Amino acid sequence: MSVEGDLFTDRELETKRLQLNFENGVNSILISPRRMGKTSLVKKVKGLVESPSLKVVYMDIYKCRTEYEFYEKFASAVIQATSTKMERMAENAKEFLMGVSPKIVFSPEPTTEFSLSLGLNPRANNAEEILDLPEKIARKRGIQIVVCIDEFQQIGEMPDSLTIQKTIRSVWQHHQHTSYCLFGSKQHLMSKLFYSRKLPFYQFGDMFFLRKIPTDKWIPFIISRFEVAGRKISVPLAEKICTTVENYSAYVQQLAWNVLIATETEATEQTFIEGLEATLAQVAPLFVEQTANLSSYQLNLIRAICSGYHTDFGKQEVTSRFALGTRSNLPKLKKALIDREFIDETESGLFLSDPLFVIWFNKNMM
Ligand SMILES: Nc1ncnc2c1ncn2[C@@H]1O[C@H](COP(=O)(O)OP(=O)(O)O)[C@@H](O)[C@H]1O
Ligand SMILES: [Mg+2]
Repeated sequence: MSVEGDLFTDRELETKRLQLNFENGVNSILISPRRMGKTSLVKKVKGLVESPSLKVVYMDIYKCRTEYEFYEKFASAVIQATSTKMERMAENAKEFLMGVSPKIVFSPEPTTEFSLSLGLNPRANNAEEILDLPEKIARKRGIQIVVCIDEFQQIGEMPDSLTIQKTIRSVWQHHQHTSYCLFGSKQHLMSKLFYSRKLPFYQFGDMFFLRKIPTDKWIPFIISRFEVAGRKISVPLAEKICTTVENYSAYVQQLAWNVLIATETEATEQTFIEGLEATLAQVAPLFVEQTANLSSYQLNLIRAICSGYHTDFGKQEVTSRFALGTRSNLPKLKKALIDREFIDETESGLFLSDPLFVIWFNKNMM
């Protein structure tokens, strides 16, 4: 779930930058780990810039597995967002797409009541025509459109992905009234799409990483949330909430909330611990599930990292102390854990990506 209004803090620079991009038709690419605040930021900026002459379309393509599932989502989101009345949606679809039979269906998602189904298929609708849709609508209506696509890394996972990427890029690059904001969380997958010179999306737009919200921004935020609830928290304890979860946006909020619930008047070390326990209890089922399918070598590599090793896994002492198997197995081991988002590779070596996972793993799996 994304946050808005009072629950949103900081991000002044990123907000400004994205807002300028949206207003000036500059494409944006936004990358960060999960739960850092991409969706919240994009929705905030959407709210800031939207006007009768600038429409922002938001869609999440996490569930799209194939090219045409993506096109279906793309076209229906564009038509829904640019139709002012529900009754006009079907007409609009027919006006801009050849031979479709639009249906308005009750949405399976809880956030919207209904959705538009177009039944696009390769025989009747070619990819270029569909991808051109926002530009056609923008020209016809004399407006500007920004298309925001959440979890865009899915495109890289589709069968025949390179061809799809080429097609998309070749159509979108001619758009003058439509710009794109592409964002996603599987960092290594997103980077793969946008970093490689050889790939179609190379230099597609203004690319930036969402940094963590710094502690000095979180502290007054946490203190004020406590105040609103008629409670108090000291600066050092508010700081401890941040450092415990390494400033991960979602976890700062979750931990702060759990400490608040445990606190009657003023937060203490004791209510902090209770809040942390409650938070761990909430995330544990997911961690249990995620680790259930790991091989013992994979678990052992995580154990090594938890014990403070970040490089030199191939050294005899490390390989045998943690039973990591043969040296030649290491690259595969590493890749499997990176692909499944357990670890990140940085200049200083391998690190676990989730700070709560580290706490949980240390308690339960060492
Ligand atoms: N700017 C922010 N201020 C306060 N909390 C935030 C902010 N951005 C994100 N969060 C917290 O992090 C959670 C995850 O944010 P979300 O936007 O869904 O991240 P992402 O899209 O990167 O996975 C939110 O539900 C909220 O609790
Ligand atoms: Mg998101």
